[in-house]
Amino acid sequence: MVKRCLFLLLFLCCLAGSRIASADTNPQDAAALRSLMKKWKKTVPASWRKSNDPCVRWDGVICDRNSRVTSLNLFGMNLKGTLSDDIGSLTELRILDLSSNKDLGGTLPATIGKLVQLEILALIGCSFSGNVPKELGNLSQLNFLALNSNQFTGIIPPSLGKLSKVTWLDLADNQLIGPIPNSRDHGAGFDQLLKAQHFHLNQNKLQGSVPDYLFNSSMELKHILFDRNNFSGSIPASIGVLSKLEVLRLNDNAFTGQVPAMNNLTMLHVLMLSNNKLTGLMPNLTGIGALENVDLSNNSFVPSEVPSWFSELPKLTTLTMQSVSLSGQLPQKLFSFPDLQHVILSDNQLNETLDMGNNISKQLNLVDIQNNKIASVTLYNNLKGNILKLTGNPLCNDSVLSSTTPCTGQLSEYPTQPPLLPDVQCANPFVETIVFRAPFFGDAANYLHILHYNLSSKLNSCTPNNLGLVYSNPDAYLNVDIKACPVNQKRFNYSQVLNCFNLTLQTYKPPEIFGPYYVKAHPYPFHDKASRTVLIGVVTGCFLLVIGLTLVGVYAVRQKKRAQKLVSINDPFASWGSMGQDIGEAPKINSARCFTLEDLKLSTSDFREINAIGAGGYGTVYRGKLPDGQLIAIKRSKQGSMQGGLEFKTEIELLSRVHHKNLVGLVGFCFEKGERMLVYEFIPNGTLSEALYGIKGVQLDWSRRLKIALDSARGLAYLHDHANPPIIHRDVKSTNILLDERMTAKVADFGLSLLVSDSEEGQFCTNVKGTLGYLDPEYYMTQQLTAKSDVYSFGVVLLELIVAQPPIYKQKYIVREVKTALDMGDQMHCGLKDVMDPVLQKTGDLRGFARFLKLALQCVEDLGTDRPSMNTIVREIEVIMQDNGIRTGMSSTSSSFSIDSRTMMAAPKYPYSNASASSTAFDMDSRAFEYSGKFPSEGSLKNRGT
Ligand SMILES: *[C@@H]1O[C@H](CO)[C@@H](O)[C@H](O)[C@H]1NC(C)=O
Ligand SMILES: *[C@@H]1O[C@H](CO)[C@@H](O)[C@H](O)[C@H]1NC(C)=O
Ligand SMILES: *[C@@H]1O[C@H](CO)[C@@H](O)[C@H](O)[C@H]1NC(C)=O
Ligand SMILES: *[C@@H]1O[C@H](CO)[C@@H](O)[C@H](O)[C@H]1NC(C)=O
Ligand SMILES: *[C@@H]1O[C@H](CO)[C@@H](O)[C@H](O)[C@H]1NC(C)=O
Repeated sequence: MVKRCLFLLLFLCCLAGSRIASADTNPQDAAALRSLMKKWKKTVPASWRKSNDPCVRWDGVICDRNSRVTSLNLFGMNLKGTLSDDIGSLTELRILDLSSNKDLGGTLPATIGKLVQLEILALIGCSFSGNVPKELGNLSQLNFLALNSNQFTGIIPPSLGKLSKVTWLDLADNQLIGPIPNSRDHGAGFDQLLKAQHFHLNQNKLQGSVPDYLFNSSMELKHILFDRNNFSGSIPASIGVLSKLEVLRLNDNAFTGQVPAMNNLTMLHVLMLSNNKLTGLMPNLTGIGALENVDLSNNSFVPSEVPSWFSELPKLTTLTMQSVSLSGQLPQKLFSFPDLQHVILSDNQLNETLDMGNNISKQLNLVDIQNNKIASVTLYNNLKGNILKLTGNPLCNDSVLSSTTPCTGQLSEYPTQPPLLPDVQCANPFVETIVFRAPFFGDAANYLHILHYNLSSKLNSCTPNNLGLVYSNPDAYLNVDIKACPVNQKRFNYSQVLNCFNLTLQTYKPPEIFGPYYVKAHPYPFHDKASRTVLIGVVTGCFLLVIGLTLVGVYAVRQKKRAQKLVSINDPFASWGSMGQDIGEAPKINSARCFTLEDLKLSTSDFREINAIGAGGYGTVYRGKLPDGQLIAIKRSKQGSMQGGLEFKTEIELLSRVHHKNLVGLVGFCFEKGERMLVYEFIPNGTLSEALYGIKGVQLDWSRRLKIALDSARGLAYLHDHANPPIIHRDVKSTNILLDERMTAKVADFGLSLLVSDSEEGQFCTNVKGTLGYLDPEYYMTQQLTAKSDVYSFGVVLLELIVAQPPIYKQKYIVREVKTALDMGDQMHCGLKDVMDPVLQKTGDLRGFARFLKLALQCVEDLGTDRPSMNTIVREIEVIMQDNGIRTGMSSTSSSFSIDSRTMMAAPKYPYSNASASSTAFDMDSRAFEYSGKFPSEGSLKNRGT
């Protein structure tokens, strides 16, 4: 045995030493890659050094059927060195992304022009220097060209004008000089790039004028970033014909003359012309209704009164016009625009009374009118603290006023503190910075949690619930660091980084308001320090292997036995045959049935797409029908998804023990051939979120909403107080509350549940899990999970019942919105009208509403100890319903856990006081839910089984 091992080993060692030619890869391409590797030496991914077959084994290399390399993606790999001329031999290359390799530099070889199939070229954030090679103009298929954040010098080669397919052109943040090439003066130029949507030339040393014929109405331009260059001459009038333009940044140049008419730019969100030498009349922005972020500061416009468009741009978030000789009075209307955050008008001649009115934007957090001529101001009580700056106005000469904050300027440093964002801690986080170059807003505070939400879902498969955001504003742009922690491993490997964090190529679409962005990754420690030479490695490896294998040989038999034992410990199901004979060995799982894979395949027509009714991180939910006619929902875990054998077993044990009419019941499970499936009762009427604001457009009246609140509260109260051991749900949300044919609510999905008895004192440390928008802030800050975290999430659901919007919607967070709305109204609920579901407002009769609202707000108190228990919530909702003549179906909480579901019906007397019997009311409803009748033949049916 040992002898044979040794022989094999020697053979392997020889093989490794003698570097035979690559097995499959096209020889020309393999040679080119090896030449690249020679320049990058040891900094290539480990797989490049271990294998001779690029197409099959090398990280970042993708080939086609003919073994030609089509994609080379080495984003963020810490490559050091230069780019070999031989890159030009990869003639089938379509994607080349070497971005975020800070030590990759030198000149960009002209041979890159030979890559005639290239569609994507991204070299963002490397150290390339020298000229941009004119040969790039030969890349006729190129669609995405990003050379930004390097050290390129010289002019922009006019040949780039030949890139007729280019949509993304980014040369920003280099040292480029000279003009923007145009076909009249330079033979070829940017005026020919009719497909381009992005001209990003910011942060260079470009100069000269921008000729009028650079733009024409057949262009598709969305983003023009020319800021921070040395452009002069007037702004071309032809910009006014770019009807798709969304962002125009010309700030920090030397533009002169009058600003041309832009009234036709109806899609323009961001207009920044500050720090130029513009003259003539102040631009008339009337009609550009989409404008959100405007900065015209520091120009030499003709002194003017406050223009009328100040009160005609309802989407404004930020209006900045420092030092432009404005006089007169600011309209109250400006301050009432709902999204307004910043008004910065310092160093002007505003001389009338400042009166912002009584209806100011709830978002407003900075009004800077320093150094104007304001002699009086009207202030209202509801003006938030430190938002107004008036230092340097005549009114501050008044001895009394001058001691108040608006005059002393002793405000908090800048208007808002960076928002509290989820942070994560681990030894080897992957960090990358997203640079937003023209956000539509001035103050990121209210938007970053939306970004976090959005990114978390994009990156969820790579770093589930393990994403932090850090925010900084070091230059003119908004920088946001993403910090991602690996799960169940020490660090990310090469392919994870390549597949998860390659946001370079703009495949990630942040919420629109964040505007154009680019990404740079920070160097990542892929290895521990030790990096010996290959030879030493091979020799040592062989030596150690010989010893190791000898030991293996000697102890083989013993180990085999032990291994068998181990398997049975690690995998509780290992001994469960597919025929289910051994089922008795799992005594904790008694009422759940063990299905075979075959059973479930039959019931779902072999898991056909049409039977899929929901999907999530864990996998897919299918509906099915058992031979006896029972309808079921099958939760099928993705192969290799997060849920491990243990988690799966936990869930089965939990669910099979828990029986309550307001909890979705487990019918059985299947654990076979690597498949993990849970089989639930089928709940026909979909989720609460669908009923509230989903595709269905169902209108739930007030009494039914109360009833749904009560049902789900009872389900949760049972989990907390009556299940043995108690269970914290951990993912309470409206998509986990299902509605059955009688509109009884049932709480679903215990995938994240943990047994409380696993810990002492009902409190334990664990990785924060849950869904953003519902997550208890105390929990994610302290990582201490208690039943009160469920209460918080449930409070969010109660608010959803009032607002009928997801917890994070239109850049707003429901909890904050409702709280702010209440603060604003002088009377209770007056302010709430803005955020409340119009359907509820229409029906009018909202008995018990005030008490319900109070309860919801108690649930979302910051401190867990200030929140009521689920049991208290149940009682309170019961009282609310009873006091208002709505039947609760049960008189007392304690009895509510044993009674059969069929006795459970709400008879909504109000507002249907005429409804003679409860059954009538429900008959009416079932017509509203007609789709449920078509089951199971109709594919349109939706029900999230879990
Ligand atoms: C590539 O570009 C260079 C310079 O722009 C040009 O001289 C050359 O003819 C081009 N080659 C091909 C094959 O088009
Ligand atoms: C704006 O559009 C209208 C109609 O399309 C056109 O007549 C007018 O000349 C345009 N104005 C400018 C400044 O381009
Ligand atoms: C600004 O433009 C609008 C519409 O184009 C026009 O009605 C208005 O009179 C203009 N205002 C000034 C001050 O020129
Ligand atoms: C403000 O300035 C304008 C123009 O300079 C002048 O006509 C007006 O009377 C001034 N208003 C006050 C209140 O001083
Ligand atoms: C980037 O990552 C996505 C997965 O998020 C993957 O589908 C795509 O192929 C990757 N792109 C490249 C160029 O590797």
